[in-house]
Amino acid sequence: MSPPQKCAAVVVGAGPAGLAAMGNLLERQLGGKIAWIDPYFQAGRVHRKYREVPSNTKVAFFQAYATAVQPFRTVINSTRIPSPFSTMAKLDQEKTCHLHHAADVVRGLTEGIVKMDQVYACRGAVTAANLVERTSSWTVRIQRADYLDEIEIVTPRLILCTGASPTEVPIPAAGQHTERLDLDVVLKPSDLMSYLSHTTPVTVGVVGASHSAILALLNLVDLARSTHPQLRVKWFTRHPLRYAEYMDGWILRDNTGLKGQAADFARQQLEDDKLGQSEAGRFITKVDCGNGQEGAQYERHLPSCEYLVQAVGFTRDPLPELSVDGYSLEPEFDAVSGGFHDKGRHVPGLYGAGIAFPERVVDPYGNVEHAVGFWKFMKFLKRVTPEW
Ligand SMILES: Cc1cc2nc3c(=O)[nH]c(=O)nc-3n(C[C@H](O)[C@H](O)[C@H](O)COP(=O)(O)OP(=O)(O)OC[C@H]3O[C@@H](n4cnc5c(N)ncnc54)[C@H](O)[C@@H]3O)c2cc1C
Ligand SMILES: NC(=O)c1ccc[n+]([C@@H]2O[C@H](COP(=O)([O-])OP(=O)(O)OC[C@H]3O[C@@H](n4cnc5c(N)ncnc54)[C@H](OP(=O)(O)O)[C@@H]3O)[C@@H](O)[C@H]2O)c1
Repeated sequence: MSPPQKCAAVVVGAGPAGLAAMGNLLERQLGGKIAWIDPYFQAGRVHRKYREVPSNTKVAFFQAYATAVQPFRTVINSTRIPSPFSTMAKLDQEKTCHLHHAADVVRGLTEGIVKMDQVYACRGAVTAANLVERTSSWTVRIQRADYLDEIEIVTPRLILCTGASPTEVPIPAAGQHTERLDLDVVLKPSDLMSYLSHTTPVTVGVVGASHSAILALLNLVDLARSTHPQLRVKWFTRHPLRYAEYMDGWILRDNTGLKGQAADFARQQLEDDKLGQSEAGRFITKVDCGNGQEGAQYERHLPSCEYLVQAVGFTRDPLPELSVDGYSLEPEFDAVSGGFHDKGRHVPGLYGAGIAFPERVVDPYGNVEHAVGFWKFMKFLKRVTPEW
């Protein structure tokens, strides 16, 4: 292995959060290159999996994200029109849009940022990082995709923006009769259409009641009323539908409540007093799993489901192997500062952001939530990076 090169920071992950971290660190002009590592440099999951998903945030927030820091504005100003930026700027800013618009903006910005002199972009995966406590410097090991080799970078700052994937929990009675259906497939109608048979009766169980679950129901209903007339859905839910509410200058359930197309569909077709008469109700049977009935309800209803899709949240993806002076580290994220602790002690130079490491926010009623979204990552990073 060649001798390690030195960088002012290493950012792991090139999704919307990693890009926002790069923008903020470049704006600060740390002196020295910033290394940016990702296997694809293609906007993370939002491009790989969720291009067909309708956004639950308005266009103005994607626009605010894209223009929040000088390095992004430099990329936009030097990109020929028409571009993803000019397309986004022309959309109705107060409406939502499909996520392919947001993904293409992130890809366009990424393309410009990786070409900047201050950036060392490396296609590959960070596999390990060790902190030498005496010098407060991290030695970061990278498996490079283009050269099929390993390199090391030494840096005082390591920023983890490594993302998250759909959560799967053990479901009683699943697996005996029921095949697992990937949430990512259900959130992509063009894949879902060919995945499910349109000539034989098929019942899909959907677990959950937040954004992912409601969009899964919406996509399945769209198929049932068009190309897949024999498709039916059992909807396993353990709490009432919860909506974001627009208050005076702030949003109640901003991060947990339904918004956008999912909220409209839920209000108009899925509420108990609507489901009986709605079009969705022709295909969906609701199975109430609240009040501890979960186990019994699954035992009773799962045998009639050919497939089961879990829409029960997202779990952070595995981190690189982290250590301090060779001793393994299990870092706890500090969702206020963006830093980490290990057994109560601050870990120097280690930071996180994005869906894997979101900011903790408290609303005026005292409700605690985690702030997940393009603009929320950007606001968090603008606040905390000056301390990094
Ligand atoms: C279905 C869905 C819809 C959403 N809709 C919206 C919306 O409408 N509006 C909004 O603002 N937000 C939305 N979000 C929330 C959020 O903005 C997205 O989840 C966003 O993609 C998270 O970005 P991220 O950068 O944290 O993670 P990711 O997009 O998952 O990116 C992580 C990146 O890190 C890389 N990586 C991981 N480990 C390593 C490693 N060891 N070495 C190198 N690279 C690594 C991965 O390959 C990936 O490219 C949505 C989320 C979901 C799940
Ligand atoms: N653009 C969009 O419309 C869109 C679509 C999908 C996701 N997203 C974003 O992606 C992020 C994740 O959203 P998400 O909807 O996937 O998840 P989420 O907001 O984290 O919600 C997870 C849901 O799963 C439920 N749940 C957890 N375990 C369960 C179990 N065992 N059985 C039944 N229900 C269970 C939870 O209910 P309890 O409260 O009872 O635990 C909660 O309602 C959010 O930031 C969201 O905004 C956006």
